[in-house]
Amino acid sequence: MIEKLKNIEELSLVDILKKIATEFGERAAFSTSLSFEDQVITHHIFSNDLPIRVFTLDTGRLFPETYGVFNRTLDRYKKKIEVFSPKHEGVEKMVTEKGPLSFYTSLENRKECCFIRKIEPLDRALQNVDCWITGLRAEQSDNRNNMSITEIDSQRNIVKVHPIFNWTFDEVKNEIKEFNIPYNSLHDKGFVSIGCQPCTRAVQEGEDFRAGRWWWENNDKKECGLHS
Ligand code: ADX
Ligand code: SF4
Repeated sequence: MIEKLKNIEELSLVDILKKIATEFGERAAFSTSLSFEDQVITHHIFSNDLPIRVFTLDTGRLFPETYGVFNRTLDRYKKKIEVFSPKHEGVEKMVTEKGPLSFYTSLENRKECCFIRKIEPLDRALQNVDCWITGLRAEQSDNRNNMSITEIDSQRNIVKVHPIFNWTFDEVKNEIKEFNIPYNSLHDKGFVSIGCQPCTRAVQEGEDFRAGRWWWENNDKKECGLHS
């Protein structure tokens, strides 16, 4: 399947998305966290009327500002963003047994919460998908720097594509400006990488791009498991 996307790194973002749409149609899906990066991709999928599905994982713990940009995106493009929520049984059991802030108490508890609120819904979202598109960029972390624009998700046996993998943060910001794309207002308050509200803080000048994610954990490979 990955052969279908041979040499796509030579194409522009719009041409990459058009190529994916031609090869995979509705069996291609873009996961958006409504971040700066993801909004750029959403803009081009929607503006070009591509058949690629767009979905988000609503963990139930997102920032009000994230719901704000979600809503502005619906208003602007008049297109559907599919929502996948965690199963209520899992959330109810975890919060009843461990309280609403269990993720601060151990890595195990944090991963349990990420599994219930993100990974299980992601597995459902990707059920009829052959090509999964993300907004990952190489410079976001050392970990990601070792990845490439197209990969095989061997666990699910599907193709995974990161169409803005080689973009810089400035290129992302310029695109947002040029096309007047709606963005999360937290980006104007020092937030760069934005996830759930209790697990994300703003970063200081000079701090690592992902320093504001799970900042209490002492681990240079901080990931929630979506991309491992
Ligand atoms: S995470 O693994 O640390 O949470 P990050 O926030 O850097 O991921 O986002 C990287 C990519 O993962 C995004 O571009 C998007 O494709 C996907 N992603 C992350 N969070 C979500 C979410 N809540 N819903 C849908 N996709 C997401
Ligand atoms: Fe839970 Fe935090 Fe993971 Fe969100 S980022 S799913 S609140 S542990």
